[in-house]
Amino acid sequence: MIVILTGAGISQESGIATFRDQGGLWENESIEAVATPGGFARDPERVLEFYNQRRRELLGPGIAPNAAHLALARLEAEYQGRILLITQNVDNLHERAGSRNLLHMHGEMLKIRCTRCGAIMQWEKDLHRGDSCPVCAASGGLRPHIVWFEEMPLYMDEIDAALGKCRLFVSIGTSGNVYPAAGFVRAARRAGAHTVELNLERSQGANSFDEGRYGRASQVVPQWVEEVLVQHQN
Ligand code: APR
Repeated sequence: MIVILTGAGISQESGIATFRDQGGLWENESIEAVATPGGFARDPERVLEFYNQRRRELLGPGIAPNAAHLALARLEAEYQGRILLITQNVDNLHERAGSRNLLHMHGEMLKIRCTRCGAIMQWEKDLHRGDSCPVCAASGGLRPHIVWFEEMPLYMDEIDAALGKCRLFVSIGTSGNVYPAAGFVRAARRAGAHTVELNLERSQGANSFDEGRYGRASQVVPQWVEEVLVQHQN
């Protein structure tokens, strides 16, 4: 089984800003204000507008999967074995590239959640505080289906189980700053997996990987996928 973890770097060449690079999202917005439960409680309209803007950008004309997303979808389609793709990203570019066995551990930009009835639904327009839930009709309880800081990431049981039995763990386009994702490589190593980092530059966790290849994801990922498929086809 191959477990793949992706971060914002895999979507950077598709035109989606990363968080901690030059010009990244956290350069212009405070995490506390727009990506914590406290920030949402203090100023919900500011938070909703932050996500409305990112949702509009994601649905904009120029945004599309790049060669790295497409290579991971090819790997899933052609590899003779199980692939689990875990993404920290909230964009839908892995789905648009064709990946299926995919877990969004930090939630999804194009979904919202009702805090009254718990319903999670696809939502591609702006979200405003007074909007009412299409399921329970309550108003004022809708929020982005995004995991904020201080909140528990999604699918952790499934992720832990996969890390405990994977033979190959690959981390792509993440700075290794945010846990629990940044600790996945150590769990994979404990399970005896070979660990690979594919990134523009060495991440915080680079020393934990058996192997590192550095460059733009659109170059490095297709090359790595080709090698894996050739290795495992003979
Ligand atoms: N190709 C490959 N890697 C790239 C590219 C590229 N074209 N461009 C940037 N990178 C790398 C950067 O070098 C950096 O290591 O992608 C990484 C992006 O790091 P971050 O901006 O920190 O994004 P990420 O690691 O996904 O952040 C994790 O933090 O803010 C939270 O919830 C948010 O999911 C996010 C989490």
